[in-house]
Amino acid sequence: MANVVVVGAQWGDEGKGKIVDWLSERADVIARFQGGHNAGHTLVIDGKVYKLSLLPSGIVRGGKLSVIGNGVVLDPWHLITEIEKLRGQGVDITPENLMIAENASLILPVHGELDRAREGQTGVAKIGTTGRGIGPAYEDKVGRRAIRVADLADAATLETRVDRLMGHHDALRRGLGIEPIDRAALLEALAAIAPQVLPYAKPVWKVLTEARKAGKRILFEGAQGALLDVDFGTYPYVTSSNVIAGQAATGTGLGPTAIDFVLGIVKAYTTRVGEGPFPAELFDADGDRLGERGHEFGTVTGRKRRCGWFDAVLVRQTCATSGVSGIALTKLDVLDGFPVLKICVGYDLDGVRLDYLPTAADQQARCTPIYEEMEGWSENTAGARSWADLPGAAIKYVRRIEELIQCPVAMLSTSPERDDTILVTDPFAD
Ligand code: GDP
Ligand code: IMO
Ligand code: MG
Repeated sequence: MANVVVVGAQWGDEGKGKIVDWLSERADVIARFQGGHNAGHTLVIDGKVYKLSLLPSGIVRGGKLSVIGNGVVLDPWHLITEIEKLRGQGVDITPENLMIAENASLILPVHGELDRAREGQTGVAKIGTTGRGIGPAYEDKVGRRAIRVADLADAATLETRVDRLMGHHDALRRGLGIEPIDRAALLEALAAIAPQVLPYAKPVWKVLTEARKAGKRILFEGAQGALLDVDFGTYPYVTSSNVIAGQAATGTGLGPTAIDFVLGIVKAYTTRVGEGPFPAELFDADGDRLGERGHEFGTVTGRKRRCGWFDAVLVRQTCATSGVSGIALTKLDVLDGFPVLKICVGYDLDGVRLDYLPTAADQQARCTPIYEEMEGWSENTAGARSWADLPGAAIKYVRRIEELIQCPVAMLSTSPERDDTILVTDPFAD
């Protein structure tokens, strides 16, 4: 049975949620493997809107198992709030259809405080984080002082974990002018939330291994996008996890042999939220038009997303680092009515042409885009459900993207609605 990884191939918000929701009909298990509630995945099903940050998008479709893997950093208070919100929208969530890895690390209030305090420091360049404590939580994970889901079950373990954490954080907090951690209040809050989280805690690696042996299909749901990857993104303007497809294995406890198809989600133009280099960014009426037509405002923070032309250099690069088998090209409809479309096909760095984004931050900042122009289309593609519904110029644009990124289009999306989707190659086909 084929297992599929869905990853963002740009700077996030490519439409992963919509595609995961559509594909989840064909899957048995949907697993998140990195990130946390910094993600914002929007699903639109018959006009009804669901916004998910921490829960896998498969939760909305009944009869599927949703899994939060060990690679995720989990804010237990946010988890319960999100579960309640979705229950309020009629989504059934129980320990039967939601499982959380016992070895996932927790995001605590101290992490959000530290994240926001650092972002607010004067004289230090902001990353433009979501302020949700993602970076500090991952720091504690690799620093071996995280509190993990399984620790919630034992009061004595929690005390020793909190003491270790305080030894590190109180020194940092002092430097930033924040009050020391209130040990008793933190332990009390953890004791109160533990019984609400623990029923979902499972050895996820084992559950997934058994599901795989039983021939179940697993759909891995990435968050963020490859250019926010902590190793391969525009460092330091990145998130604090590995985002690329290889992380699906380590972030759930299945080996890389479990992955049969990597679907890169690619927006038909480019957006980015937060700070950092963005060579094809637009500051003109075309950029405004992309933002307005694409409703480019962040799901999590409501921030305006920066917009630019399609950057084929970046997507060719991210298709390589994630080993993408095929892409889902989304938001093609947003380009309707542009008389001319530009595609970034290379960079000029100090007079030298590059076909990839260099690693050094100063060089990234100096890369200027080299564009190729294509004819636009005046027809409406919104809601198109087959190739035959697309104007010739739109098909040419898609075909040119395939050539430039050296990767085939497996799916196309033409509106936020679940079924406004064109399947070219089934990622689950054996
Ligand atoms: P994600 O983080 O990758 O899941 O993407 P987001 O949900 O943050 O942002 C994508 C936005 O575009 C959402 O509001 C979707 O409803 C919407 N969307 C997804 N696919 C399409 C599409 O093909 N056309 C249009 N117009 N909107 C889309
Ligand atoms: P989805 O899953 C877009 C960005 C933030 C910031 C940087 C670091 O919806 O595609 P963090 O809070 O993670 O430490 O912030 O990463 N960022 C995202 N941008 N989509 C996301 O998720 C993002 N998650 C984080 O804006 O620039
Ligand atoms: Mg998003």
